[in-house]
Amino acid sequence: MIKPVTKAVFPVAGLGTRFLPATKVLPKEMLPVVDKPLIQYAVEEAREAGIEDMIFVTAPGKSLLEDHFAPAPKLEAFLQARGKTTELKSIRDGFPATQRVKFARQEQPLGLGHAVWCAKDLIGGEAFAVLLADDLMMATPGALKQMMGAYKRTGGNLVAVEEVPQDRVSRYGILDVAEDDGKLARARALVEKPAPEKAPSRLAIIGRYILQPEVFDHLAKKQTGAGGEIQLTDALAATLAAVPFHGLRIDGRRFDCGNKLGFVEANVAFALKRGDLGGDVKKMLKSIQ
Ligand code: G1P
Repeated sequence: MIKPVTKAVFPVAGLGTRFLPATKVLPKEMLPVVDKPLIQYAVEEAREAGIEDMIFVTAPGKSLLEDHFAPAPKLEAFLQARGKTTELKSIRDGFPATQRVKFARQEQPLGLGHAVWCAKDLIGGEAFAVLLADDLMMATPGALKQMMGAYKRTGGNLVAVEEVPQDRVSRYGILDVAEDDGKLARARALVEKPAPEKAPSRLAIIGRYILQPEVFDHLAKKQTGAGGEIQLTDALAATLAAVPFHGLRIDGRRFDCGNKLGFVEANVAFALKRGDLGGDVKKMLKSIQ
């Protein structure tokens, strides 16, 4: 039986040191691409995939992020009174109902696997999605929706994958591919952040996962891996014998907003796509070259 996916986990407890000083106070997931915070793109992607229950794994100092998903009656009343309907829509549409938003705490930065483990009690024994907001996806339909389509056939653990250059494999979880039809690959093993000469392939996990609750059995052991962190990839590797693991290539584009170049690129690409901005941005880019 393929378990339905009704909950999404957003690990948002990272310190975002690569974006200091911007992230001294501002959570990195609140950095805007054009005029929307990264985390909101991820939440909208989850909603497009049919998910309404959102679980944020936060850390101390992330209250701005909690505020962003809380109702703002004063601001709404102000916009309403001024007839600012577009602005009003922008703080209503795309937001999940407040009672469907939950927070789990990760008290210490022990790794992505640990962050996901912190959401265990809110997930129960269900299948669930994980979205890493700094992997920003530009895709139609959305990346997670594409994955939901494939998941109906594969079941098990399913992640989004992308071929990366050999000299970048050490930044990612990498698949040891057993079968691959060019769109969907099945893995026989997984390695987190391998050295380029040891990588079994160039097929990298990017920040979208549909996972089975069995992953918690391994995460509960709190074993550390690459970088001394509790790695999600290791827990998924440990359940491979019991739970099939597939990687889906997404139709669309990923922007790595965890680094500055990717973040700038995302801002330009998303601005160019906007009906209200695209033409002017194109002219502006020509003028500053
Ligand atoms: C995490 C995962 C890694 C995955 C990557 C995708 O790494 O551990 O397996 O490939 O996200 O962005 P991080 O970027 O947190 O180092």
